Amino acid sequence: MYKIFDTVDEVSHYTAQRLLDKIKALPSAVLGLATGSTMEPVYAQLIKYIQHAPLDLSRLTTFNLDEYIGLSAQHPQSYNYYMYQHLFNQLNIPAQNVHLPDGLTTDIEATCQAYSQAISKRGGLDLQLLGIGTNGHIGFNEPKTCFNSRTHVVELSEQTRIDNGRFFSDQAEVPTHAVTMGIQDILEAKEVILVATGKNKADIMAKLFNSPIDEELPASALKKHNNLTIVLDREAAALLPQHTLKSAI
Ligand code: F6R
Repeated sequence: MYKIFDTVDEVSHYTAQRLLDKIKALPSAVLGLATGSTMEPVYAQLIKYIQHAPLDLSRLTTFNLDEYIGLSAQHPQSYNYYMYQHLFNQLNIPAQNVHLPDGLTTDIEATCQAYSQAISKRGGLDLQLLGIGTNGHIGFNEPKTCFNSRTHVVELSEQTRIDNGRFFSDQAEVPTHAVTMGIQDILEAKEVILVATGKNKADIMAKLFNSPIDEELPASALKKHNNLTIVLDREAAALLPQHTLKSAI
């Protein structure tokens, strides 16, 4: 299902409300979370909602999608740091319920395996929030990633390193590798919300719309999912066929 809004603000309200509804309906929900620019206003809105009408978050569990290899939790560009800045510092989720892949682990294989297993042990993800890369990646699952992948190490594509270079003072500082939840982990979530905003996402959203299910385009795996919502602003939806735009509003 597509939901298309005029502004980023409306996208953020809608998405934050969906997260809130999930937590209210299921206080012990297991949420899969994403980082990136797209999620900043979503998390800001979610915090506002919760500050306005406090909720018990003591039973909530979160698993983040990914983390750069080589960056500590204190590094301002690490996803761990991002999550505390943009969400966790403002919400009362017990620390032991918050999970991010460890980018500094010395046993990467064991870390990856344990991460996917921890998700399964908690009964799987009730809702996975996703952004999308301009090359169609979800999490850091780059083009050609197997759709049956579990948490694994990826070499970041040149495109992703260029896109994410905006967060670093020097392009050379962008890590070359990351740990990411696999596509199978994502597909097993009971519900998936993919959010894309801004004109730099218009090409990939049109490509995704027209693409068959194909490992060249990781996000196309989501076409197999039976509870997917794609939330876009006008700019990201600009190249979708007119009839989709009309029925999605
Ligand atoms: C981040 C993640 C990535 C981003 C994607 C879009 O945890 O998993 O897939 O969602 O790169 O990033 P932004 O929102 O910065 O355009």
